[in-house]
Amino acid sequence: DRYDLLVVGSANADLVIGVERRPAPGETVLGSDLAVHPGGKGANQSLAAARLGARTALLARVGDDDHGRLLLETQRAAGVDTDSVLVGGAPTGVALITVDPSGDNSIVVSPGANGRLTPEDVRAAAPLLAAARVISVQLEIPLDTVAETVRGRGPDTRLVLNPSPPAPLPEQVLAACDPLVVNEHEARYMLGGGAGETPHDWAPALLALGPRSVVITLGAAGALVADSRTESLDHVGSPKVEALDTTGAGDAFTAALAWRLGRGDELREAAAFAVRVGAAAVTARGAQESFPTLEEVGAL
Ligand code: RIB
Ligand code: NA
Repeated sequence: DRYDLLVVGSANADLVIGVERRPAPGETVLGSDLAVHPGGKGANQSLAAARLGARTALLARVGDDDHGRLLLETQRAAGVDTDSVLVGGAPTGVALITVDPSGDNSIVVSPGANGRLTPEDVRAAAPLLAAARVISVQLEIPLDTVAETVRGRGPDTRLVLNPSPPAPLPEQVLAACDPLVVNEHEARYMLGGGAGETPHDWAPALLALGPRSVVITLGAAGALVADSRTESLDHVGSPKVEALDTTGAGDAFTAALAWRLGRGDELREAAAFAVRVGAAAVTARGAQESFPTLEEVGAL
C-alpha cells in the first residue's frame, strides 16, 4: 500500500514568545507568556499533509522526553503514521522562536535528536521509502541522512526538497529535486548573490544548479514556479489574508504542494493550491495548530 507522502525530517518543540521588537546584542526585552507548540519543519509538513487528507508517514527522531511525547501524540491524533519515528539518543529538538507584531518570526533551532537521525535509520526504513509517491525533506537533519534518503527513494518516487536552513547541497541531491522549494532567503543563499535582483531572475539561475523544477515562495505575493521540462516560468498569486503568525506557513505550503504533485497535479496547479494552504496557516498562531483542513482551504 502506498503513502501519498513520506516526510523525512525534524520534529521540534517550539518555544514561542511574542515580542514588540527583538533585543539587540547585550539587550534584554520583556515578551509575552511562553507558549510551547509542536513544530519542526518535518513534523509540520507531515501534519499539514495529513490534515488535508493525505496518507502520510513521518521518519524522524525525538527524545525520550515530554517534548517528544507531545510531538508523537500530535502526529498520531492527526492520522500520521509514526511507526518510523525513532525515540532516544538525545533530547527532542527545540526551536526558540520570537514572533513580532507583524507576525514575522526569528528562530534558533537546537537539533537535539534530529541530529541523531542517521543514514542507517533511513536504510532501516527502506520499504517505507519505496512505498511513497512523494518524499519531502528539509535540512534540519544531517546532510548525510538527506543524501541517503535521496539515494534510497523508489524509482518512481518524486522528491521535494526545501533547503532550510540553507546549506551547500551535493550535486546528486540537487539533481533529484522536483521541485526545489525556496523562499527568498534560501534562493539568495543558493545563488551566492550572483544572479540578479528579482525572483524572476533567480528562477532560471536556480534551475541551472540542476533541479528539475523550482518553486520560489514569495510570502503575500504568492509563488514563482519554473519547470525545466516545459521551460515555463509562472507566477501564482495568494489570497489576501491578515497575518498573525507566519511560523510553519512555508512547511504547510510545501506539504500541500508535495501531496498534490503525488496526486498528479501539474506543478503550477499544485502551487496554486499550496499558496492557499500557506495563506490559511498565517491567519492563526503557532505552526501545526494553524494548518487548515481541505474544507478550510476551500472556504478561503
Ligand atoms: O518552519 C517552522 C519551523 O522551523 C518551526 O516549527 C521550528 O521548529 C523550526 O523548525
Ligand atoms: Na501560523
